[in-house]
Amino acid sequence: MVGRRQSFLTWGDIVRDGPTGLELHYVGAAAKVACLLSGWHIQASPYWGSIMRVLVTGGAGYIGSHILFKLADAGHEVAAYDNLYSGHRWAVGDAPLHQGDINDQARLDEVLGKGGFDAVIHCAAHIWVGESVRDPLKYYRNNTAGAFTLFDACARHKLKAVVFSSTAAVYGEPLKQPIDEDVQKAPINPYGASKLMAEQALIEAAGAYGFAYGILRYFNVAGADPKGRVGEATPENSHLIKVACETAIGKRPGMRINGTDYPTPDGTCVRDFVHIDDLAAAHLAALEHLLAGKPSLIANCGYGHGYSVKEVLDTVQRISGVMFPIEIGARRPGDPPSLVADASRIGELLGWTPHHDDLDEIVQSAWNWERKLAGGRDLGRPTSS
Ligand SMILES: NC(=O)c1ccc[n+]([C@@H]2O[C@H](COP(=O)([O-])OP(=O)(O)OC[C@H]3O[C@@H](n4cnc5c(N)ncnc54)[C@H](O)[C@@H]3O)[C@@H](O)[C@H]2O)c1
Repeated sequence: MVGRRQSFLTWGDIVRDGPTGLELHYVGAAAKVACLLSGWHIQASPYWGSIMRVLVTGGAGYIGSHILFKLADAGHEVAAYDNLYSGHRWAVGDAPLHQGDINDQARLDEVLGKGGFDAVIHCAAHIWVGESVRDPLKYYRNNTAGAFTLFDACARHKLKAVVFSSTAAVYGEPLKQPIDEDVQKAPINPYGASKLMAEQALIEAAGAYGFAYGILRYFNVAGADPKGRVGEATPENSHLIKVACETAIGKRPGMRINGTDYPTPDGTCVRDFVHIDDLAAAHLAALEHLLAGKPSLIANCGYGHGYSVKEVLDTVQRISGVMFPIEIGARRPGDPPSLVADASRIGELLGWTPHHDDLDEIVQSAWNWERKLAGGRDLGRPTSS
């Protein structure tokens, strides 16, 4: 990311126009690259060399771990904060793991108090819609009250920015597709509602206490690190591509398609699947944007087009070479026929351009990871948590 941005500005531009804050950011980036190339280690202030110091809550989980790797690859200083409820110690790689709960104010004070962090990326949450219906208070306690405690700590420790993992579930069942950020928010389950309340609190807290926020509303995140270092290992998973890969590898007996009579091209539901590596890159871009002093933002994170459930299952079968059984069932209540992002805003604001917008690529990376988890001889196995 640093390299990508450098190409937009030359030293000549900077000298001619004089250094604004943003340009100093680029100067810092150039200095950082020079130091890295010459083997120097930069230890000065957080903005020297534009190194960002970032704490990722939920960093031992699926999305948080990929963000850690993405930021570390770009030369930033990262650490994870996670209670290991559904995350894994191995998933953080070389990043420090601060074990703790987002509801634990004293532990947050301890970590944020001495960490010197510029920003927090807040991924920690409970994530299953069905469970949220059965046990709503579990979701409000963790996703809403926990977020309040975290945002309060961010304000008291004077962090400059918070990036929040939100979800398309805040929209509910919008009549208009693709879904833009300004459509009415009407979540249809406690999971979506718990996230929407956290969004609102973040916006108001940021305004009142003086930090920047970035709210990224993810659509269906899938796939694994293209380098195979990390991937999805969240227990009791219900994500379509993950479950299909688990079925192909033999962990589950078969799959079920819930409804083949939707008003979609093949009758099955259509969802906007975004590759985890592109999603992680969006967080890096959001942080660079906010820490360069640009305005807070709310943006969808999807590709703006979808794939049907049937297309996804066909692709997993073709790539894995396993023709697992697929049962056809009735529609499930609360499943809209199509959920596709209007993805224009994130491109306009952050210059975010997907690099993995391809179902085969998403599935191939997820399948490679599933084989690694299962201990495939050619891929090795991560150590357990
Ligand atoms: N996976 C998706 O497709 C998707 C889609 C939309 C939004 N999101 C959002 O992305 C975020 C990450 O989701 P994920 O798929 O990586 O889930 P995950 O379960 O793999 O990761 C969540 C992590 O948070 C940790 N955690 C949970 N509660 C905690 C607490 N109280 N204190 C500290 N750590 C805690 C867990 O141990 C885990 O490591 C969530 O906020 C979720 O709402 C995910």
